[in-house]
Amino acid sequence: MTTPTTRNDHFDLGGDLRVSRMGFGAMRLPASTRGGAPNDRDTSLRVLRRAVELGADHIDTAAFYFHPSGPAANEMIRSALAPYPDGLVIATKVGPYRAPGDPYPSGQLPASGLRAEVERNLRELGRDSLDLVYLRPGGLETPLDEPIGERFEILAGLREEGLIRHLGLSHVSAAQLAEARTIAPVAAVQNRFDITQPADTEMLAICERDGIGYAPYFPLGGFGIPDDDRVKAVAARHGATVPQVLLAGLLALSPVMLAIPGTGSPAHLEENMAAADLALTAADLAELRA
Ligand SMILES: NC(=O)c1ccc[n+]([C@@H]2O[C@H](COP(=O)([O-])OP(=O)(O)OC[C@H]3O[C@@H](n4cnc5c(N)ncnc54)[C@H](OP(=O)(O)O)[C@@H]3O)[C@@H](O)[C@H]2O)c1
Repeated sequence: MTTPTTRNDHFDLGGDLRVSRMGFGAMRLPASTRGGAPNDRDTSLRVLRRAVELGADHIDTAAFYFHPSGPAANEMIRSALAPYPDGLVIATKVGPYRAPGDPYPSGQLPASGLRAEVERNLRELGRDSLDLVYLRPGGLETPLDEPIGERFEILAGLREEGLIRHLGLSHVSAAQLAEARTIAPVAAVQNRFDITQPADTEMLAICERDGIGYAPYFPLGGFGIPDDDRVKAVAARHGATVPQVLLAGLLALSPVMLAIPGTGSPAHLEENMAAADLALTAADLAELRA
């Protein structure tokens, strides 16, 4: 039995915003590694245009994705892609605070700062309305237990005003998702997940049950491609690469799974996008999840 994971395989965010399940993450456009040197701007613009050519119609970004020396993901997306092709969905996230010279976000914006951050994304991307805005509470390792209602209500208000089409949540617990859903619909969740790590399967199950998109961050491990014998074995059987199996495995896991691998490399982009055509078998999946 095979599980087809082709580029024509779509998901309707919020029930009405259709995206291909193989998308693109923009965090690595300014720099490929956290704290690393900036990428060549022309190469990053080329990566973006090629991603769209290859069928990526779901780009994940944030105003706080920039290199301290200046290059920023939102600016690159606008420069490379505007006027935007019909159907291109740009998702962004708000919550983290990052000053211009900081290597990483250093904290959270106050609730009162969320409107300005949404307006900043609108301005930087050159759009009248944002397709999908995730609230991203907490730090990278912060426990997922803080109430998010006050901040989510502000985003829900901006949605009512028409500045945002759909809302999402990133780096949240099931309790935080439930809290947010008492305020407004949640179209997508973006938590950390890769096929080699069983964490967050409970959240994935909730998303699958309720038709919420699940667009994991660090789908390729985030800090280096995972060295995993199961993935290597499946890759060898298919004549595929390890990153391709990591991505095809994700897509095969659930119909609500949306891949947003990040790269600043044209060669890695080609490799990652080709993973959408890699059909894994049920036996492959069982081996990957063993
Ligand atoms: N919500 C959140 O808290 C959060 C956190 C992190 C990321 N994100 C989003 O999730 C997206 C995906 O996560 P991510 O980009 O951090 O991590 P990732 O996709 O797991 O991995 C990206 C890293 O892998 C490298 N890479 C990509 N393709 C490769 C390939 N085929 N072979 C070898 N290396 C490859 C990239 O470097 P090269 O440039 O050299 O390819 C980069 O260093 C981001 O772009 C961002 O949009 C969200």
